[in-house]
Amino acid sequence: MNEIKFYNGENIPLELHKVRVVQKLHLVPIERRLEALQEGGFNTFRLNTKDVFLDMLTDSGTNAMSDNQMAAMMQADDAYAGSQSFFRLQKAVEEVLGKKYFLPVHQGRAAENILSNAYVRKGNLVPMNYHFTTAMAHITQYGGKIAELLYDEAYVINSSHPFKGNMNIEKLEEVIQVHGAKNIPFIRMEASTNLIGGQPFSVQNLRDVRSLADKYNIRLVLDASLLGENAYLVIQREEEFKESSMNEVMQIMTGLADLVYFSARKLSSSRGGGICTDNLDIYRELEALVPLFEGFLTYGGISVREIEAMAVGLYETLDETMISQSPDFISYLVNALDEKGVPVVKPAGVLGAHVDAMQICEHIPQKEYPAGSLAAALFLISGVRGMERGSISNQRDEYGNETYADMELVRLAVPRRVFTLSQIKYVEDRMNWLYENRALIGGLRFVYEPPVLRFFMGGLEPVSDWPQKLIAKFKEDFGESL
Ligand code: F0G
Repeated sequence: MNEIKFYNGENIPLELHKVRVVQKLHLVPIERRLEALQEGGFNTFRLNTKDVFLDMLTDSGTNAMSDNQMAAMMQADDAYAGSQSFFRLQKAVEEVLGKKYFLPVHQGRAAENILSNAYVRKGNLVPMNYHFTTAMAHITQYGGKIAELLYDEAYVINSSHPFKGNMNIEKLEEVIQVHGAKNIPFIRMEASTNLIGGQPFSVQNLRDVRSLADKYNIRLVLDASLLGENAYLVIQREEEFKESSMNEVMQIMTGLADLVYFSARKLSSSRGGGICTDNLDIYRELEALVPLFEGFLTYGGISVREIEAMAVGLYETLDETMISQSPDFISYLVNALDEKGVPVVKPAGVLGAHVDAMQICEHIPQKEYPAGSLAAALFLISGVRGMERGSISNQRDEYGNETYADMELVRLAVPRRVFTLSQIKYVEDRMNWLYENRALIGGLRFVYEPPVLRFFMGGLEPVSDWPQKLIAKFKEDFGESL
């Protein structure tokens, strides 16, 4: 996309949309923010948004919807079976993602459940570039294991590698040979690899994975929840696709996979999810599970209004001025933090800016959850709600031991077309202050730990009175300012 130049030389991501519906936000006093943390077990998932100023927890279901999406929702066709809304969505899937057969599901993890139910058996191994929490939980639920096969570069925080989400091709072949192709139900590639900082893979890498999938006759599954952003970065960073359109790149990527699934809470800025394929056998294998877990085949647990919004949202994904807005804001925030020395995942990825708690809180051992602590501290001093993406988000191993995360990140999500640049500058300012006062942040410990996906509803408490000390310093520097 062409950058819009400013006469004064500043490099600012200019918004190419206008705001027509707004929601009032509340910035509550720091004392109330502490109470909110105590009520929510120092877990940002458990906060009530009435206490949150900028909600940077996720982009999932929080991207702004367009006027055309809202308009389409009004013409939804309520029918249990054969709704016209479904056929409009099926057409959008075919035109945007290039796949003929489509199964709607209520969200991304429902697709993961169906795939795992159909294909994963005890003792199976699923190689992937990197796990996503819900994908891994479903595979292990059905008795499988995962192998994460990124290149070492992916774990380097301060990197300039354009495609940190690439699958390590040599390791993939080794894993297939060691475990045997018959024990591998599918290979999973995740677009814009979420948990390592929203980092893309290249089309060339996906082609290489495809060659191995063909050589060993293994299905290739693409998690396309963040496909639009991955395609946008391919156009920016992969020489061969410099002049390509979003539609071309997206269809080349989906064309390399046997089966594509997605969370429509991300892709298409709505709700819902889906599975699509060109392979009738795969479609038939999965078809029966949709009415079992989701709903009839023409709604899959999604409201018809959301189905209409999905269809329009899929077409809008092809608009570079829309899809670039969040990555460009993220890049602005990442560069600003980096200039101040705050350790942050580079190059800037998609979905959000990812700050490195392993470095910022190097005085907090992993068993006291540095990323969870940093997320709680940031909320306390700013009302900005980020998400822990570190050891709390990891699941315990089969023997009940902690598995410490490779990276301890706090994700500051930037949903599409939701925030203004001054709000992003506020985040930058408070994060800089927190970085300068990082020695005051202390650790956390669990007081309530659910057995599955513990990060969602788990409860923790600070290991000392560090929140009070942080508040005292905040008051010293900001006085009565919120
Ligand atoms: N795959 C990826 C890459 C995701 O990022 C998500 C969700 C899912 C699958 C599951 O989809 O939520 O619709 O069931 N990511 C959200 C996030 C939750 O905050 O990053 P879902």
